[in-house]
Amino acid sequence: MNVAPFDRAARIGVVPVIAIPSADYAEPLADALLEGGLPIAEITFRTEAAAEAMARVSETRPDLLMGAGTVLSVDAVSSAVAAGATFGLAPGFDPEVVAAADAAGLPFAPGIMTPSDISLATARGCRLMKFFPAMAAGGPDMLKNISAPFLHLGLTFIPTGGVTQDNMHEWLSLPIIAAVGGTWIAKPADIEAGDWAGITARARHAVERVDEIRG
Ligand code: 3PG
Repeated sequence: MNVAPFDRAARIGVVPVIAIPSADYAEPLADALLEGGLPIAEITFRTEAAAEAMARVSETRPDLLMGAGTVLSVDAVSSAVAAGATFGLAPGFDPEVVAAADAAGLPFAPGIMTPSDISLATARGCRLMKFFPAMAAGGPDMLKNISAPFLHLGLTFIPTGGVTQDNMHEWLSLPIIAAVGGTWIAKPADIEAGDWAGITARARHAVERVDEIRG
């Protein structure tokens, strides 16, 4: 499996999770993130506009590392690949979706929340997983504990769900964390309001925080 996009995501350290209300916002949103020094986005299949937005970003803003989120079906894997997504994530573990992503050469991080989930995902060859819903499930301490029996397999995680600017340090100081993710940088309301300056400022702030935490 091609893991290079996730290596890049891990270097960046923070992934803005986007539910885009209309594909017309794709380019200005990408520009706002790039302007803030954050060249990555996870565009989720939570809105009708997602596939078109992904296609526009991949065609017009190749500098942005663009992945698909909320990939819940084999069809969604195909849509993501067709739209130029370079990685995919899901809130849960579905072996059919993981197999489809593998067959399509799409680096994929399934969601996990329990040791059983981790066990099933590792058996399918996954080494990077999304920990979701990260804070509600027990935060960094929970992830440290449920992942401990598997660490010899070289697993890393992207926690999302309740992760913010204010608690990202709790995650990024752990060696098992590849990157954090969340919607706080570009909420649908910010996108609809065209608050590109606000999105740029939050993107920049997040990147600065990653640098501070990682030294
Ligand atoms: C996701 O899809 O990754 C999460 O829903 C993001 O959660 P947040 O809105 O709490 O950041």
